[in-house]
Parts: sequence; structure tokens; C-alpha cells
Amino acid sequence: MKSLLFLVSSFLVVCFTNFSIALAIDLEQGQALFSQNCAACHLGGNNTIVPEKTLKIEALEANSKADIQAIVTQVTQGNGAMPAFGGRLSDDEIKDIAAYVLDQAKSNSW
Ligand SMILES: *[C@@H]1O[C@H](CO)[C@@H](O)[C@H](O)[C@H]1NC(C)=O
Repeated sequence: MKSLLFLVSSFLVVCFTNFSIALAIDLEQGQALFSQNCAACHLGGNNTIVPEKTLKIEALEANSKADIQAIVTQVTQGNGAMPAFGGRLSDDEIKDIAAYVLDQAKSNSW
């Protein structure tokens, strides 16, 4: 019974490891892309155009942007003063940026 549990749990570990590789969220890549494409207006998670709409968790939550999909949509399509990046960056690149922004916000790392 114990060895069966061990087998099952090993199997789950392998599955989850492969799963996260398949998702291929790359926070380092997100950070690099953020500095190249977003930092002009969003340095330090700030917003030089609309100062109250920062990338900090409180502002993201207040604007219903505290999830990956909402940030991906915003970056891809643009919104208000923010240009659309859909033509300039690939879907994977935008996903990495969104993951980085949310990670920074949630861990209060800006
Ligand atoms: C971000 O905004 C805050 C509040 O205005 C300011 O204190 C801080 O220096 C800014 N950070 C950067 C990197 O511009």
C-alpha cells in the first residue's frame, strides 16, 4: 500500500512538473520584455500617464485587472491611453509580461 502511494505521488509530481513546463510561463522573459516595452510608462509598477492606475495589487483589483487573462487582454488590445501591443508582441510574450506583472503585484515587489 505504501509503495502504491509512493508510485501515485511520484506520478503526480512528474505530471505537475511537466504541466508547468508546458505552460512555459517565463517570469525572467516577462521581466525583460516589461523593461523593453512597458517600463517607459510603468517603471516600478507606476503609471506616468494615468497616475492612479498603477500596476500595484490594490489598483489592479480596483480595476478588475488582477488576473492573467485581464492583463493579457489589456496589453494585447490596449485600453484608453495605453496602446495595443498585439501587433508588436507574440501571444506568448504578452502572457509572460502578464505573469510577471501579476507576480510583482501579488508579492508587493514593485
Ligand atoms: C512610483 O511612484 C511613487 C509614488 O508617486 C514614487 O514614490 C516612486 O518613486 C515611483 N517609482 C518610480 C520607479 O518611478
